[in-house]
Amino acid sequence: MKILVTGGAGFIGGNFIACALRENRADEIVCMDKLTYAGNMHTLSGALKDPRFRFYRGDIACKKDVEEVFRKESPDAVINFAAESHVDRSIAHPSVFLKTNVSGVGVLLDACRKYGNVRFHQVSTDEVYGDLPLGGKGDAFTEDSPLRPSSPYSASKASADLLALAYSRTYGLPVTLSRCSNNYGPFQFPEKLIPLALTHILRGEPVPVYGTGENVRDWLFAEDHCAAIRLILQKGEPGRVYNVGGRCERSNLEVVRALISAVGKGEYTFVADRPGHDLRYAIDPSFAESLGWAPKVPFEEGLQRTVAWYLSHEEWWKGILDGSYRAYNKEFYGSKR
Ligand SMILES: NC(=O)c1ccc[n+]([C@@H]2O[C@H](COP(=O)([O-])OP(=O)(O)OC[C@H]3O[C@@H](n4cnc5c(N)ncnc54)[C@H](O)[C@@H]3O)[C@@H](O)[C@H]2O)c1
Repeated sequence: MKILVTGGAGFIGGNFIACALRENRADEIVCMDKLTYAGNMHTLSGALKDPRFRFYRGDIACKKDVEEVFRKESPDAVINFAAESHVDRSIAHPSVFLKTNVSGVGVLLDACRKYGNVRFHQVSTDEVYGDLPLGGKGDAFTEDSPLRPSSPYSASKASADLLALAYSRTYGLPVTLSRCSNNYGPFQFPEKLIPLALTHILRGEPVPVYGTGENVRDWLFAEDHCAAIRLILQKGEPGRVYNVGGRCERSNLEVVRALISAVGKGEYTFVADRPGHDLRYAIDPSFAESLGWAPKVPFEEGLQRTVAWYLSHEEWWKGILDGSYRAYNKEFYGSKR
C-alpha cells in the first residue's frame, strides 16, 4: 500500500511516518508538507534515509501542488495531518486556518475523487465538541455529541469534518475521521503545553501556566494515536467518525508539576488566561476500542519517555528556539527527495 501523509514534517505526522516505516506497516510512504513554522525536516531525518519514503514540499490548499503528487505517486490512501494546529495562533490570525484547515481539505477531497476514489482519512480533534464543565464525571464526548467549537482553530477543524463527511455521503468517497484528544511525545513543537513546559524547565525559566492551571485535558501518547489511525484506515467503516483518547484527564497544573518532578527541577508562574479558554475535554473512545485499539502507553511512562527524548534531543528543540531549523528546511524547498 502506498500512503500519502500530508503534514508529515509536523509532530503527529512525523511520529506516524517513523512508526509505519519501523513496523513495516506500509510499502511506501509519500509525505507532502508546506514546511510552515511547524514543519521541521529534522523530524524526517530517519525517513529520508529509507528508500520506501519520498518527500514533496507542497501546500494542501494548492490544487496544482496536490495534483502533481497524485499524478506522480498514485497513492492508495491519504492521511491528512496537515493543519494549522495552535489555538493561540488561530485567535491572532484566523484566516490561514480557514485556508489550510478548510479549503486545503476540500482540495485533497477533490483530488481523491478525481484520481480514482482514493481512501481518505481526516485527522481531527476532540476540540470540535467544545468544552465540558470542570469536575464532571461520565460526561465524555461521544461521536454523536453536538459540534460546538470555541476557537477559530476548532471551528475550522469542525468545518473540515463536515466537508469530509459530505463527500462520503454525496460522492461515496471512502472517508473516515478520527477525533483525538491532546497528544504528547517526541517531536512536538515547543508552543504546546508539554514541550513548552519542558523547554522552559530545561533552560531554567519558569513555566507560564494559563489562568490558575485548572483546565483539564485528556492525554494520549502520539504513538498510540498513530496506531489508532492505522487501524481505522484498515478496518474503519467509511463515513464514520472515531473518537480517540487516553481516558487520562489531567489539569494543566498537574501536568506541569509532573514534568517538574520528572526533570527534578523547575518552577511555574501563572499568566493571563487565553480568551475563551476551553475548561475541560473528555472523550469516550469506545467505538475506536471496538476495532481492537487501546492505548498502550500509560501517562506516567509516556511522560518519562518524552522527558528522556527532549533531554537527549537538545539540538532538535534548540534549533527551533534559535530559528536555525528554518534554514535547514529551505534546502528542501522546490525539490522532491
Ligand atoms: N497535537 C495534538 O494534540 C492534536 C490532537 C488532536 C488532533 N490533532 C490534529 O492532528 C493533526 C496534526 O497535528 P500536529 O500537532 O502534528 O500539528 P503540527 O502543527 O505539529 O504539524 C502540522 C504540519 O502540517 C504542515 N502544514 C501546515 N499547513 C500546511 C499546508 N497548507 N499544506 C501542507 N502542509 C501544511 C506543517 O508544516 C506541519 O508540518 C492536525 O490536523 C491537528 O488538528 C492534533
